[in-house]
Amino acid sequence: MPRPIQATIHSAALSHNLTRARQAAPDAKVWAIVKANAYGHGIARAFDGLRSADGFALLDLNEATELCALDWRGPILLLEGCFEARDLELCSGLGLWHVVHCNEQIDMLAAHKTQQGHRVFLKMNSGMNRLGFKPERYRAAWTRLNALPQVDEISLMTHFSDADNGKGISAQLAAFEATTHDLPGERSLSNSAATLRHSGVLTTRSDWIRPGIAVYGSAPDCPAHSAEHWGLQPTMTLASKIIGVQQLEAGDTVGYGSTFTADGPLTIGIVACGYADGYPRHCATGTPMLVNGVRCRMVGRVSMDMVTVDLSPVPGAGIGSDVTLWGRASNGVVLPIDEIAQAAGTVAYELMCALAPRVPVVVD
Ligand SMILES: Cc1ncc(COP(=O)(O)O)c(C=O)c1O
Repeated sequence: MPRPIQATIHSAALSHNLTRARQAAPDAKVWAIVKANAYGHGIARAFDGLRSADGFALLDLNEATELCALDWRGPILLLEGCFEARDLELCSGLGLWHVVHCNEQIDMLAAHKTQQGHRVFLKMNSGMNRLGFKPERYRAAWTRLNALPQVDEISLMTHFSDADNGKGISAQLAAFEATTHDLPGERSLSNSAATLRHSGVLTTRSDWIRPGIAVYGSAPDCPAHSAEHWGLQPTMTLASKIIGVQQLEAGDTVGYGSTFTADGPLTIGIVACGYADGYPRHCATGTPMLVNGVRCRMVGRVSMDMVTVDLSPVPGAGIGSDVTLWGRASNGVVLPIDEIAQAAGTVAYELMCALAPRVPVVVD
């Protein structure tokens, strides 16, 4: 029998969350962001739940090819554009749309021999200071692109650094608006946080939203708001079983480093899940976990293949009992992945992406 750990990707939840994003910006088309192998869910596994998207946005050419092999014939956008000149061959061949964020990419396009006009998204660095042209260089880039016979249509985009927090989007939005107000072309501005928190106040036209994390059921502005607050459902459940039980007495310790000491008699379960499965090692005693759908607390240190759980709230639990590390238990109780991410001092993005290859994954 294989080790009992398993991840489940919930297609209906993906579809539900995509609809939630669409409801927040009803006039916009939706790019489902599927970079990083659909935030660890697997592009092929997530595809069914996301097929109502208007397009898919990602980084990796292999992932774009995978989508085409799944018979997706709608738009695919390369969010970082081309890394080298020969990537443009694939863009021409597969009709991929691509971001242009620097002059070197414009040089590559200018030298590219193609009969196929390219659809490009010209990226502005409106304050994030990662990729894109600064506002004062943006119009010159647009003019250069506009003069190229290789370019069919130019859309305008930027990316917000603080849509999830109090700083907000107004300064970046003002920079974008001031530079682009009279340029033609579709606009794409909003990630999940901007879509859910700021769509109502976006003064700039938004033709394409770009939700990622919300589609995968995590609150983009956790801990200010929960996934439940935004009406999002978990799309990934990590589940396992108890494979051992220990009865502790007062003074007994648990696991490496003896970081937990029982202060009285205590039954603990040993769960087949550890950091080699993608469960974060930084989670400490107190991190929530469901046993048979009942909330319990982890005790001691996460080890490579095991974690330990206080079974006091579930007296009937023992070897073979179901454990939900995050996601939805079979009784319907939800343990939000955001709670585990917080306990580990990180974000749900990282946990999803870190699901280890050794964990078997099924789709429901
Ligand atoms: C350019 C761009 N757009 C959209 C997204 C989606 O962001 P989120 O997952 O926060 O919605 C990302 C993710 O980092 C991104 O890099």
